[in-house]
Amino acid sequence: MFASSTQNVPEVLSVPRHIAIIMDGNGRWAKKRFLPRVAGHKRGLEAVRDTVKACADLGVEYLTLFAFSTENWRRPEEEVSFLMSLFMTALEREVDKLSQNDIRLRVIGSRERFAAEIVERIERAEARTANNGGLVLTIAADYGGRWDVMQAANRLLAQGVAQLTEQDLAANLSMAYAPEPDLFIRTGGEQRISNFLLWQLAYTELFFTDLLWPDFNAQALRSALASFQSRERRFGRTSEQLPETQRRG
Ligand code: IPE
Ligand code: IPE
Ligand code: MG
Repeated sequence: MFASSTQNVPEVLSVPRHIAIIMDGNGRWAKKRFLPRVAGHKRGLEAVRDTVKACADLGVEYLTLFAFSTENWRRPEEEVSFLMSLFMTALEREVDKLSQNDIRLRVIGSRERFAAEIVERIERAEARTANNGGLVLTIAADYGGRWDVMQAANRLLAQGVAQLTEQDLAANLSMAYAPEPDLFIRTGGEQRISNFLLWQLAYTELFFTDLLWPDFNAQALRSALASFQSRERRFGRTSEQLPETQRRG
């Protein structure tokens, strides 16, 4: 179990251990070029490759990417099925490269609405990379922060737990294997959480950029990192209480 930001003061590092990203703006990227929205999703996959590599090079331990939310099922059917087939292809084609780079893939979210062959490919990809010791890449697909808290609570209730503790709940979230994100990035200009990791973002540093996801790259990641490094992470304390090296301004 990792330390909780509300129960202990986490260690502050200059390179975030865990980065969580809402990859937004694919549709607008395509629209600007008079292309169908799905062309933006296709290009978005290239930005995923660049970002995974950049994070691994920087020594980030966990990278979590929001690929499909529990609310994205509300989109037009053609777009949803395109996203599903892109996910299928990516699961098949990218796994070798992930393995070569010692990256472990994990997928979080409800699997109930996915076709059987997607679930199968997810399981296969997870199993094939399970012994890799480098970056842990988590794809959040059919994921919602509320879904996650609810499934954790329901699991505990099913075990007969009468009163939930913060620790019990955290241990049953789908990302219990990772520390809380240090840095959250959202591309596409919107400044909202859109039901991403609600519980774990309690003390995460938030970074919003107008760049559209297909335009995100290693340089954009460095800007986010520079912003992160300029923040004073107080976790409720006063600036004066922080070690000298962690004070800013
Ligand atoms: C993010 O890009 C990808 C998914 C939500 C699957 P969008 O498709 O939301 O792009 P915009 O926000 O419409 O530009
Ligand atoms: C958030 O983007 C979800 C993903 C990137 C997967 P959306 O485009 O769905 O978010 P809203 O609807 O603008 O809040
Ligand atoms: Mg969007």
